Amino acid sequence: MQTRFSSVVLTGASSGIGEALARELSAPGVTLLLIARDEARLEAVAAACRAKGATVETARVDVRDADAMRQALESFDTRVPVDLVIANAGVSAGLTPGHGPEAPGVSRRLMEINYAGMLHTVEPLLPRLIARRAGRIALVSSLAGLRALPDMPSYSATKAAVRGYGIALRGWLARHHVGVTLIYPGFVTSPMSARHAGARPFEIPAEKAATLIHHRLKSGHRVIAFPFPLAAGIFLGNLLPPWLSDLTMRPFEAEVRPDDGR
Ligand SMILES: NC(=O)c1ccc[n+]([C@@H]2O[C@H](COP(=O)([O-])OP(=O)(O)OC[C@H]3O[C@@H](n4cnc5c(N)ncnc54)[C@H](OP(=O)(O)O)[C@@H]3O)[C@@H](O)[C@H]2O)c1
Repeated sequence: MQTRFSSVVLTGASSGIGEALARELSAPGVTLLLIARDEARLEAVAAACRAKGATVETARVDVRDADAMRQALESFDTRVPVDLVIANAGVSAGLTPGHGPEAPGVSRRLMEINYAGMLHTVEPLLPRLIARRAGRIALVSSLAGLRALPDMPSYSATKAAVRGYGIALRGWLARHHVGVTLIYPGFVTSPMSARHAGARPFEIPAEKAATLIHHRLKSGHRVIAFPFPLAAGIFLGNLLPPWLSDLTMRPFEAEVRPDDGR
């Protein structure tokens, strides 16, 4: 059976996968709350979604700001009870050139955005979803959360943290009839992946990723991992002894160009 989502919260909606998801989810009868920091990019996405018939609200909020997130989410949910929340906002980083240690503070920043930001997106809605005994929570992790990338230690750790939290949430919320989906993308074309200077095997366009995610969310999948060859390779690689598993990661050596550091 396919669920039709009519009230959706989406973080990281101003770019890449989030932007493509916002467009993909847009249709008449759908209300979206799109969250990100960059006003111009966010409003451009909102306009494109409205052109597809969706009702769109935007909140220019940093996911690290727990109070502002709570206020935006509770206000929206009171007016339009949420049936899908997608915690997608994230940033990436990696080793310094020449495979030196990550810059000081990188690990904390990534944990605050990728992990705490995810908590700030989910926690305010939890009691409401539980009380309604309905809804779905989707957390965007990464294949790097299933198998850490040697050049992206902090990023991989944050995505493994999202995975751990999501798996626990899935087991806990099942008895309350609230669904939880963990999303593990491989390489998807976006401003984030453009900074990943190295092999990006089986990279797919953001629009294709969004269609696949939407389709599987509607079908109630608990795990969405793609593209299949890379996800299967990681699953099998995790069965290898560590020394051999590490050897298989050599071809994936990469340099991650820094972002704007916000
Ligand atoms: N692209 C890939 O290959 C890939 C692979 C695996 C997993 N992922 C995951 O997919 C998600 C989306 O990535 P993407 O490739 O679409 O990246 P992207 O194009 O860089 O977009 C990231 C989004 O997150 C938002 N964001 C970042 N920090 C934020 C903050 N502090 N508060 C609020 N919003 C924030 C950005 O909006 P503002 O800058 O406007 O705030 C933007 O909308 C991330 O969680 C990423 O880790 C991506």
